Amino acid sequence: MTVITNIEDLRVLAKKRVPRMFYDYADAGSWTESTYRSNEEDFRKIKFRQRVAVNLENRTTKSTMVGQEVSMPVALAPTGLTGMQHADGEILAARAAEQFGVPFTLSTMSICSIEDVAAHTTKPFWFQLYVMRDREFINRLIDRAKAARCSALVLTLDLQVLGQRHKDIRNGMSAPPKLTIPNILNLMTKPRWVYHILRTPRRQFGNIVGHATSVSDMSSLSSWTSQQFDPALSWADVEWIKKRWGGKLIIKGIMDPEDARLAVDSGADALVVSNHGGRQLDGAQSSVGALPAIVEAVGKQIEVHMDGGVRSGQDVIRALALGAKGVYIGRPFLYGLGAMGEAGVSRCLEIIRNELDLTMAFCGLRDVRDVDRNILLPGTY
Ligand code: FNR
Repeated sequence: MTVITNIEDLRVLAKKRVPRMFYDYADAGSWTESTYRSNEEDFRKIKFRQRVAVNLENRTTKSTMVGQEVSMPVALAPTGLTGMQHADGEILAARAAEQFGVPFTLSTMSICSIEDVAAHTTKPFWFQLYVMRDREFINRLIDRAKAARCSALVLTLDLQVLGQRHKDIRNGMSAPPKLTIPNILNLMTKPRWVYHILRTPRRQFGNIVGHATSVSDMSSLSSWTSQQFDPALSWADVEWIKKRWGGKLIIKGIMDPEDARLAVDSGADALVVSNHGGRQLDGAQSSVGALPAIVEAVGKQIEVHMDGGVRSGQDVIRALALGAKGVYIGRPFLYGLGAMGEAGVSRCLEIIRNELDLTMAFCGLRDVRDVDRNILLPGTY
């Protein structure tokens, strides 16, 4: 039995168990991957102030995100093709998040559909929307998310054009994936993954196939999606989506204080400081690097969330200390899923909560809502 004590252990196990093209799809960043790396590296530079002889009994990591109670201020980020890390990946991750009391965000580009996830969970989850050229399709997605009682819409704005990831091109990673000879040979070395896929009902891009006007099967999906991301997207679109949705709206992909002010003007409830996990503009600043200026600009008017490079509960605390109200994890839960399915996502969340709780205690705090810059060493952030 493999002992899992941190997120890196889950990553190593996922790499062993998940077919290479899907592991690489999750693990890669765009171009030189410099932004992907700095997302993680910049967190490590931020140091804590250790405090002692403070009463540390009865600690709590409970908080809220967009007014919803969470057992810790950490949400599962929307990730496309999650069902390729493990059969029924979106359902398993949503169930683990529900059990744990944190939000799960279903991507537009998921394998399991909104309805699949709703049928296998009991509490509301969040739905992430990409703005597609086909506005009727967006309207229908919004209606489906409402019918499934999704409790927040996460609108991603940083994918008008698609960042280039070398590993995906080399592996023939596309939607649907290409079954090249190296990919088939690699699949044969992953019996556990194949076993789960074979014994699970077949699902295929459930939010799109059978729902988008021109897409009835996997072969028409690829050309449809590549034409659909809207390069002409504007803040006016955000406003009509907000009206049409009518519920909690979270704008994802903000890296600049000016855009943060526009997000406030659009009437959103929260924004996510995010460079898409270093998968879009390589050479952009790390998310944690961009966070303080955005909190400074709009932190009093809107909830500021962040993601990118969070690999421990310590990183969660660092982001909270810099003013984030909540933090999302992408790859960490994907590693958990690829490594051990639902149990792996639960393990990922346990690890993060444990690290968060202990770090909070070492810094002399008992309540995660009291975390602020006082716990950080000046000059290190
Ligand atoms: C993503 N991300 C993403 N974001 C989004 O809004 N919609 C999506 O469909 C996807 N798809 C996706 C797939 C994969 C494999 C990854 C790794 C990421 C970005 C994601 O929501 C989040 O911003 C990053 O994953 C955060 O960085 P970390 O935690 O992975 O470092």
